[in-house]
Amino acid sequence: MNFQLSEEHAMLRKMVRDFAKKEVEPTAAERDESERFDRGIFNKMAELGLTGIPWPEEYGGIGADYLSYVIAVEELSRVCASTGVTLSAHTSLAGWPIYKFGSEEQKQKFLRPMAEGEKLGAYGLTEPSSGSDAGAMKTTAKKDGDDYILNGTKIFTTNGGEAEIYVVFALTDPESKHKGTSAFIVEKGTHGFSFGKKEKKLGIRSSPTLELIFDNCRVPKENLLGKEGEGFKIAMMTLDGGRNGIAAQAVGIAQGALDAAVSYAKGRVQFGKPIGAQQGIGFKLADMATKVEAARLLTYQAAWLEGEGEPYGKASAMSKLFAGDAAMEVTTEAVQVFGGYGYTKDYPVERYMRDAKITQIYEGTNEIQRMVISRYLTKD
Ligand code: CAA
Repeated sequence: MNFQLSEEHAMLRKMVRDFAKKEVEPTAAERDESERFDRGIFNKMAELGLTGIPWPEEYGGIGADYLSYVIAVEELSRVCASTGVTLSAHTSLAGWPIYKFGSEEQKQKFLRPMAEGEKLGAYGLTEPSSGSDAGAMKTTAKKDGDDYILNGTKIFTTNGGEAEIYVVFALTDPESKHKGTSAFIVEKGTHGFSFGKKEKKLGIRSSPTLELIFDNCRVPKENLLGKEGEGFKIAMMTLDGGRNGIAAQAVGIAQGALDAAVSYAKGRVQFGKPIGAQQGIGFKLADMATKVEAARLLTYQAAWLEGEGEPYGKASAMSKLFAGDAAMEVTTEAVQVFGGYGYTKDYPVERYMRDAKITQIYEGTNEIQRMVISRYLTKD
């Protein structure tokens, strides 16, 4: 067993860390404040090959492994969680199902431009009355000649509005519930597909979250992803990997908050010595660092399993559960270390704390992760 990153992983980490410091961090606070998505950052990530990390070169990717992608999301989230989730939703929620279930034609038409960063991807599963109970969706896709006609509304779509390619789930056979669910690739600009409400959020404010509206939206049958009726399985399998991406985002946020807290605790003098050298704060920092490290190990382990072709659904759910909770605890403590200053926008820790909260909620709440894990433990 070897816990050291390989040379390739270490090089990628350094490259993304340098990029994040130079191109992402300087505008992170302003983009958060103004809720501004910056497509220019995505374009620059494309120049480095970050928009197609795990996909083979024949599909426009750089042919690296899933762990490399996880490291990239972590490093971006260390300075800006919004940028981290942009890449995560693009890669593991939109790119992965096309790579795994798409025809050769679909991969060339949709995955390649996504991997090359020409197009941005998104994933539409959640609906107003179907969140944790994903199988209760109402959006329909009715076969009509060579097309499907989609009707319904998806909400909370990361990269919504900005993305050009959407992986969307709808009922082709409403009577059969989850067995009658199918997956579709829907392009921005398709007649009958429009965007609704843009959410105003507590955190990840420079990542757009929008409603998708399908009103007699005609999608060609060539855009059916996988087979009819396979949609729920595709949605669940996609989330198995996606959750690991969110764990990486959580690790990055927690590490960023820890870095800020350690640096502040070393410089802030009270009662004649740095607060970090006083046990009350020193113990806090120790607990924070331990949680970050444990979260990272679970996250990398799940990504490694994926790369090895081993089952990773349980490990991925565990990584998101643990890392999401750790991020919330660590960022809250980081604000505490900063005291009154931590509560202001003069320092980034309040942003980290707001950003951390979503990692316990999206891509399955942490209560759903517990449900997934417990089912693995108790099934025959
Ligand atoms: N892989 C493959 N198949 C799976 C699977 C998996 N991980 N999980 C379930 N399935 C299959 C089951 O085998 C079963 O198949 P059969 O009927 O053929 O036996 C079928 O799917 C139904 O499974 P369940 O009975 O377990 O389904 P359920 O209704 O009890 O739901 C659940 C299971 C895990 C709770 C699921 O509904 C779930 O994950 N809910 C959370 C949804 C979620 O994460 N939403 C986030 C959306 S994305 C987002 O947050 C926005 C964004 O843009 C970031």
